[in-house]
Order: sequence, then structure tokens, then C-alpha cells
Amino acid sequence: MVKICCIGAGYVGGPTMAVIALKCPEIEVAVVDISVSRITAWNTDAHPIYEPGLDEVVKKCRGKNLFFSTDVEKHVSETDIVFVSVKTPTKTQGLGAGKAADLTYWESAAPMIADVSKSNKIVVEKSTVLVKTAEAIEKILNHNSKGIDFQILSNPEFLAEGTEIKDLFNPDRSHSKLAANAFLPQRISSVNAMSALCEATGADVSQVSHAVGKDARIGPKFLNASVGFGGSCFQKDILNLIYICECNGLPEVANYWKQVIKINDYQKTRFVNQIVSLMFNTVSGKKIAILGFALKDTGDTRETPAIDVCKGLLGYKARLSIYDPQVNEEQIQRDLAMNKFDWDHPIHLQPTSPTSIKQVNIPSFIFDGWNVVDEGKLRAIGFIVYPIGKPLDQWLKDMPPLA
Ligand code: NAI
Repeated sequence: MVKICCIGAGYVGGPTMAVIALKCPEIEVAVVDISVSRITAWNTDAHPIYEPGLDEVVKKCRGKNLFFSTDVEKHVSETDIVFVSVKTPTKTQGLGAGKAADLTYWESAAPMIADVSKSNKIVVEKSTVLVKTAEAIEKILNHNSKGIDFQILSNPEFLAEGTEIKDLFNPDRSHSKLAANAFLPQRISSVNAMSALCEATGADVSQVSHAVGKDARIGPKFLNASVGFGGSCFQKDILNLIYICECNGLPEVANYWKQVIKINDYQKTRFVNQIVSLMFNTVSGKKIAILGFALKDTGDTRETPAIDVCKGLLGYKARLSIYDPQVNEEQIQRDLAMNKFDWDHPIHLQPTSPTSIKQVNIPSFIFDGWNVVDEGKLRAIGFIVYPIGKPLDQWLKDMPPLA
């Protein structure tokens, strides 16, 4: 039986290996991680990550040809192919801090693979790493090896959180990772920049997107205006691209990509400022319910725009009640504990269902960061609705600008 092993049981490693195990019952798949809590959770029914369809896939294979373990060295030594799917966050210190990808986890995995290996292996890069990383890893592996042959393959992962299982069943590409992760958010920032102009001129950004997307050269995807992109990859990968451009003497190109992040930050700040402005220039002491906190249809809160929006509102001393069915209170408290702003108000966490919304006070506001609510219905029952990039209620139009 061919054995494969994946180092890193996270958002990429866990689901990817589960789908491989499902599709290839003749292969034994081990997913290993140094995090005891993560592996323990994978071995229960409360998996450490939520993705639509994931639980069913894991349940079908776990214990048959899919295993989760903290015994990293044992599984790596026994395997034929090693996938490396450890995180590559933005560096926080040293050369390239704030931009370059931190390869610490990758670099610690490579010597371990060399040390424990007793037979030839194929090592597959799943993590998002720079071009030429494979060459560097090959040097580390072959320098440490005892006559063992290591072949390094680059196979970056293109799944998107929220649709991981669907994407894994229907993968559509396998190359140019950093460029793709710059182009996608660039489209989001472009449409978000348009949304600000639409609000200023009374136009509707959804109509603009629709019309622009009809141009076959542009296409309709990734053209929805929102409060901004988030997640663990887009910003980190653009920052990495910026760093590569700077290192290669291309400051103009680096500055071009920086704007994608700047517009994203601007959109989040603009959303917070609109809330404050439209609620009579102050949210101090006002109760605001935040429906949805994680990224899309997942429980992953890494770099979610909701964090910046909540922190912005807390900075203005709003009282927040936050609810997301996939995120527990502890996680939200941890995410908001990072000290960007100083605030002294407690955060209230309580279940609220969007279908049970009814008007309680006059005036009551809905600020729709994803343009998903039915504005007409909510206006009909008396809400004042602020959708991104669309014509405002007359009532909102009459509000003075933020002081
Ligand atoms: P993650 O943080 O969820 O998972 C990484 C796991 O690796 C963690 O559980 C950590 O404990 C483990 N780990 C770190 N060092 C280890 C070591 N030496 N031995 C064993 N385990 C170790 O990260 P995620 O989101 O799965 O991302 C992994 C890579 O895939 C990153 O490079 C990311 O950029 C890339 N990627 C992520 C996507 C996403 O949607 N999350 C999509 C496509 C690519």
C-alpha cells in the first residue's frame, strides 16, 4: 500500500488529505501535526475547522485509510510521499518584516524529514512559498541525507475557504499562486473603490458590476462590493509579492500592489466611519449587533474584516453583541484582544438569528457589509438600511458628514 503523509493538519492539510483518502482508498493517508489539540480534535467529531461537506468526508475515511497523529517522525519515516502544508505567515521581525513570508515552519520541517527518512521520498510543497523555495529545500534535504534521494515538487493549493470540499473535488488549476492571489483581491479592491464612488454619486455598484462583468474580457466573478477581503492568504501573499518586487528593484510595481491593500483598509475604515456618521456622529454607548464574524461559510477568523470593523466600533465606544454560529466566544475575545485600539467596554456575545430581526427602536439601522439583506423588505418594516455602494435612504442622504 502506498503511504502518504501530510505535515500540517490545518485548513489546507486536513481537508486536502481527507479528500485524497476518499478518492484513493488504496492509499494510506496520515495527517500529522505538532499541535496536540488540533490532532485530538480531528480524532473526535468536533473537527478543528468547519467547512461544508468536510465532516462527512472525514467520517467515511477516518480509521480506514485516513489517520491523524502527532507522531510526526514515525509517519514521515514510513511514507513514500510527504506533503508539507505548514503555515507561512507574514514575517513579524528581521529582514522583510511586515512583508516577506516567514518560512520558519517550512525550514524546521525540512531537516526533520531528512533526519528520519530511511528511503527515497517525494516531498511536495503545498504551502504557499516563493519561487525557488523548492531549490533551497532540496539543498537542505540532500545536504542532510545519507544517500537518500529526495525529489521536490511544487504543488500550491488553490482551494478557497468556505468551498474547500467542492474545490478539491473540482480543482481547476495548479500553478502561478502568488500572482493569482494578487489578481483576485485586486478585483475586489477595484470594485470596492467603485462602491465609494457610487455612494458619492448616487449610483448602484451592483449594476456597475453587472454591466462590467458582462464584458467577456473581464467576466462576472469577484466583482461583488463588500466591506473588504479577508482571510489568511490574500493580504499575506500580496505583501510577499510586494517584498519580492522591492528586492528585485521594482518599487513602482511594489507600490501598485500596495494600493490593493490600502483600498481594502480604506473600505473597512470607511464602513466604520459611515456607521458612526449615520448614527448621528456617535456610537458611544450604543448597542450594535454584529451578525457573522468568521470568513465566509467557515469558522476561520484569521484576518476577517469583522475584526477591524469591531475594533473600529469599539474604538468609538460602541457596545457590541457579536454572533457567529461557527465561532465561539473565546475565539472572538482572543481576536478582539489584539490591541489596535484601547477600549474599556465589555463585548457581549449572544445568539441572534437574522430571520428573527424585527424593529425595536426608531430609528434602527442595518449596515450591510456584504450586500446580502433584502433592503426593500427591511425598509418596509421601518429599518434604515445602508448597503455598500448603493443609493442611500433619503433619510441617510440628509445626514451631515462625519465631523
Ligand atoms: P494552518 O495554520 O491552518 O495549518 C498549518 C498547521 O501546520 C498548523 O496546525 C501547525 O500546527 C502545523 N505545523 C507547523 N509547523 C509544523 C511542523 N514542523 N510539524 C508539524 N506540523 C506543523 O495553515 P493553512 O491555512 O492550512 O495554510 C497552510 C499553507 O497553505 C500556507 O502556506 C497557506 O498560505 C497555504 N494556503 C492556505 C489556504 C487557505 O485557504 N487557508 C489556501 C491555499 C493555500
